[in-house]
Amino acid sequence: MPPVTEHRRTLWPAPDGRAALTYDQRFLPHALPELRLERLEDAAAAIAEMKVRGAPLIGAVAAFGVAFAMREEPSDAGLGAACDRLARTRPTAVNLRWALERLHTLLRPLPPSERAARAFAEAVAIAEEDVAVNRAIGERGFALIEAAARRKRPGEPVRVLTHCNAGRLATVDWGTATAPIYLAHRRGLAVHVWVDETRPRNQGAAITAFELGQEGVPHTVIADNAGGHLMREGLVDLCIVGADRVARNGDVTNKIGTYLKALAAFDNRVPFYVALPSSTIDWRLADGTAVPIEERSGDELALVAGRTADGRIETVRITPEGSPCGNWAFDVTPARLVTAFVTERGVCPASEAGLLSLFPEAAAA
Ligand code: MRU
Repeated sequence: MPPVTEHRRTLWPAPDGRAALTYDQRFLPHALPELRLERLEDAAAAIAEMKVRGAPLIGAVAAFGVAFAMREEPSDAGLGAACDRLARTRPTAVNLRWALERLHTLLRPLPPSERAARAFAEAVAIAEEDVAVNRAIGERGFALIEAAARRKRPGEPVRVLTHCNAGRLATVDWGTATAPIYLAHRRGLAVHVWVDETRPRNQGAAITAFELGQEGVPHTVIADNAGGHLMREGLVDLCIVGADRVARNGDVTNKIGTYLKALAAFDNRVPFYVALPSSTIDWRLADGTAVPIEERSGDELALVAGRTADGRIETVRITPEGSPCGNWAFDVTPARLVTAFVTERGVCPASEAGLLSLFPEAAAA
C-alpha cells in the first residue's frame, strides 16, 4: 500500500454534497480503499458488513444513512423505515441508536421537503462533534499518561496496553482510547503501546497497529493471551480501552477479551481506564446484564486471511473441518474492575454517581 502522506478523517462529506466518503476497513493492514456512500443501503451494508466499524463511526455513518434515505423517501413512514433498517445492522454499540434517535427527533416535526437537507447537515454536525469530543477525551487522558510518566525515570516510556481498535478508524478522528496516546506522542512524552491482536477479527493487529505505525508511535503487537503475563511482570503501566455501551452503573461492554484484561489488570493493580464519548452511555440500562451481545459467524475464527510473500491475499482454514466455532463479539466488564472513565467532560469513577457528576442532565432521563 502506498504510504499515506496526507492525514485524513475517517468520514467526511463528499464535495458534491450528495455522499459521504469513508474507507473500507476490511482489507487492513494491506489496503484501505476509499468508499463512497450515497444511498441508505450503502450505509446499512457498510455497517452490517463491517466495512466501517467502531461505535462512534457506526453512529456517524448511520446518520448519513438517514440523510440519504430522506432524499429517496422523506415521509414519516420513510423516516421510520430508514431508522429501523439502520438499527438492525449491528446490535451492541449504542452509538447507533443514539444517532438514529437524534436524527428522528430532529426530523419528525419538519415538513418532508426539508428533511433531506437538515439530515445531511446534522450528519455532518455529528461527525464534527465526534472529532471535538475525541480531542477532549485525548486531553483528559493525556493528563493520566503525563502523571504516569512522572512516576518513571526520565525518558522511560509509559507502557500502555490497549485492546481492539478504539482509534482514529473507529471514530471520525483521534479515536477514543488512542487520543491520549497520540497527544502524548506529539507532545514528546515517551509512550510504548502493547497492542492486543484482538482475535478473531484482529482489529488490534490489523487496524490499531496500522494506525500507530502511521503516526510513528512505538508499539508491539501481542497475542491476546499475553496481557496477563506482561502485567504480572510489571511491563504495563496502564490500560486504556474503548467501549461500545456503558450502562448507568458503569458496566462496560466492549470487544470480546476486554473483561479478561480488566481482571488481569485488577489482580496486578494496573490502572484500567475506559475512554468513551457520552454517546456511548446507555442511560436506559441499569447495568450490563441486558446488553445485546453480537454473535457472529464461526468462520471468523476458523478462517484467517493474510498476504503471501508474493503479495496475494489468501484465506486459510486453521480449525478442523467440522469443529463448531463460537464467536461472541463483545463482553461485559463489571464497573468494579474499571479504575475510571475518561470522557469529553473529564475523568470520573465508573459508577452511576461518577457518570452523573459529569452529566447531571441525565439524572432526569
Ligand atoms: O466490532 P468492532 O470492530 O466494531 O468493535 C469495536 C470496539 O469494540 C471498540 O473498542 C469500540 O467500538 C470503541 S471504538 C472508539
